[in-house]
Amino acid sequence: MTGRLISKVCIVTGTGGSMGREAARMFAAQGALVVGCDIDPSRAAETLALVTRAGGRMTSLHPVDLSLQSGAKALINFAIAEFGRIDVLYNNGAAAEFAWLPDMSGDQWNFTLRNEMDVIFHTVQAVWPHMLAGGGGSIINVGSVSGKIAYQVLPALAHSAAKGGVIAMTKHLAMEGGPHAIRANSISPGLILSDAVRALMRDPAWEGPMLNKIMLGRPGEPEDVVQAAIYLASDESRWVTGADFAIDGGTTAW
Ligand SMILES: NC(=O)c1ccc[n+]([C@@H]2O[C@H](COP(=O)([O-])OP(=O)(O)OC[C@H]3O[C@@H](n4cnc5c(N)ncnc54)[C@H](O)[C@@H]3O)[C@@H](O)[C@H]2O)c1
Repeated sequence: MTGRLISKVCIVTGTGGSMGREAARMFAAQGALVVGCDIDPSRAAETLALVTRAGGRMTSLHPVDLSLQSGAKALINFAIAEFGRIDVLYNNGAAAEFAWLPDMSGDQWNFTLRNEMDVIFHTVQAVWPHMLAGGGGSIINVGSVSGKIAYQVLPALAHSAAKGGVIAMTKHLAMEGGPHAIRANSISPGLILSDAVRALMRDPAWEGPMLNKIMLGRPGEPEDVVQAAIYLASDESRWVTGADFAIDGGTTAW
């Protein structure tokens, strides 16, 4: 199926990363006008080149730090200057620090909340007036299985708190946005073969317990997550809001 996002202006954050790059590629292939961004300018530029070479329509702001309100405002202004409206905000970009409780510093804790939760507050607040003016929109926030359960081999205290926060704040946003046709949903991926996860999987002591959690017996691919995002970005999901989509191979079902 193609053309599911035809002419929709879609902001995708973190397009330098594994899932963000795949999102930019797949959204553009569905006819979206993609606005990418990342704090990492070289990876973001690579994605931009990849998508435009394949014939997709994309523009990108990089570097931009969405943990700063000014960064999020710059991104939204950039998208409006480029396309005049915003239909979809896909909050994919994030960064976290992992440490067991006794070792976690205040800086690591704060870094994680800033780069997983504040980034969403900042972009949503900046996009809101434009979605109101445009008669609605779709906000897609990336949570995580870690916002719902604990993994024995993942020192994810701050990450769990932040992603639990993302899932909760999405429901609130759905409530505030409902009367204005602004939909807000979260996607909570399980273990996905990103570059970082691929590296961790080389350690059998880590890989075994992680795989044991997955009913389907294998990690997901970035594409598995983006398929759900395409549905949520499209009009096919016009009556879906306040939901959390578990894209986790069954991890949270047992
Ligand atoms: N990989 C997994 O197994 C997994 C599982 C559950 C949830 N997630 C979530 O999925 C999303 C994508 O993850 P990924 O695996 O592709 O990660 P990734 O690290 O490959 O990509 C994230 C991108 O976001 C960018 N970014 C981080 N902080 C930023 C900031 N302040 N401003 C602008 N850009 C910033 C990074 O530079 C990076 O390019 C994240 O929200 C992550 O928490 C990942």
